[in-house]
Amino acid sequence: MSTPPSFPPDFVFGVATSAYQVEGGIENDWSDWERAGKLHDAQARCGKGTGHWERFFDDVPLIQRLGATAYRLSIEWARVEPERSRWDDEAWAGYRRRLEALTRAGIRPVVTLHHFTHPRWFHAQTPWHEPSSLDSWTRYANRCADLLDGLDVAVTTINEPNVFLLGGYLSGLMPPGLSDGKKAFAAAANLVRAHVAARAALLETARGTQRPIGVAQHMTLFAPSRRWHPLDQALTRLGEAGFNHAFLEALHTGTLRLQLPGLTAGKATIDGGTRSMDFVGINYYTRAHLRFITRPPFIHFEFVDKLHRGLTDIGWEYYPEGFGVLLRQLKRYGLPVWVTENGMDDRSGLRRPRYLYDHWKELLAARADGVNVTTYLHWSLMDNFEWLEAWGPRFGLYRVDFETLERTPTPACDYFREVASSRVLTPPPEPREKAQP
Ligand code: FCB
Repeated sequence: MSTPPSFPPDFVFGVATSAYQVEGGIENDWSDWERAGKLHDAQARCGKGTGHWERFFDDVPLIQRLGATAYRLSIEWARVEPERSRWDDEAWAGYRRRLEALTRAGIRPVVTLHHFTHPRWFHAQTPWHEPSSLDSWTRYANRCADLLDGLDVAVTTINEPNVFLLGGYLSGLMPPGLSDGKKAFAAAANLVRAHVAARAALLETARGTQRPIGVAQHMTLFAPSRRWHPLDQALTRLGEAGFNHAFLEALHTGTLRLQLPGLTAGKATIDGGTRSMDFVGINYYTRAHLRFITRPPFIHFEFVDKLHRGLTDIGWEYYPEGFGVLLRQLKRYGLPVWVTENGMDDRSGLRRPRYLYDHWKELLAARADGVNVTTYLHWSLMDNFEWLEAWGPRFGLYRVDFETLERTPTPACDYFREVASSRVLTPPPEPREKAQP
């Protein structure tokens, strides 16, 4: 029998959430969106979250119990600047206390500044496609830099700019609800600039601590629906370049190039953009098959259970191999790679240990091939509000009763802890009950 692969001693295991999905008590563009009935799940609770703001200090031991030493969480801009230029000092102080509590508990915060949501005033007054967005953003980012003054943290400035643009500026499914290729490109360029501006501010308050700064980039493995079809193949290449890599390239080379025919296209120079990431953050979930269709937007994407493993409960393909492929692609940036999200909607809680094993195996194989993956943050610490799908999906290592807000460990908690503490990747025990595919 061969020895099981293992993680190096300095490899970081952690978990992730975002403010709107868990905190509760937030009024922002998304709570308005929910109120307007725009979710696929009729059960809108408009910013209720899972009580994480109130229960934060009780949730910290849940992170420790996983053997995790990093926690990715986000600052809710609407909480700290509910009206334009009116800062809520108590909210800032609340975040500072929470970050300090993590540090005391031996958990390094990985702070996200922007995770899809905005204060209510933002899209009406200084939307991303206008240069004024950068004024609002820079003031906010400066305040975030003050919040983090001297703290030992890492930062992912912007979560999944590609998903935000697709949802908010191209498909109209997320706030601000636009479908406008020109505005989408302008917004894309400003988001890249926003990262650069935030990074400059954040480095000023690092005070001798290591403060790695990157983005959390969503990457889907694309494949042609019809392997032989040249247009499906072309779409696959365009998806790879435009969706997966354009942002990372912009932050690497200082030039944003987007080429998504029928959706958006353009080229912009980003001052200060060259080499402006300290690590590459990847959020990986699945593979998507792309098919050319003859009406706009000319792309149809679908999740297919090609290998008969059973889709995840949200309907995404279970495809750990894609993780390995994408991690290897990231070698081109010559930077450490952080997995800033990876996880599955598993409503039974029984499939997640195997999911972890399969994805960790891919990660270690990519490392053996020379990809410098140093960090793995699991999505998510606990069940939470899943955007358009709202309260159906369950991504949590801890199950949350959405009525009582009680947290209960799923079987993956023990497995996570075992691997994170032993550093040895042994397979998880077979589930006692059979997971329903
Ligand atoms: C990612 C988001 C995260 C979560 C997971 C399931 O795209 O960044 O907030 O919703 O998907």
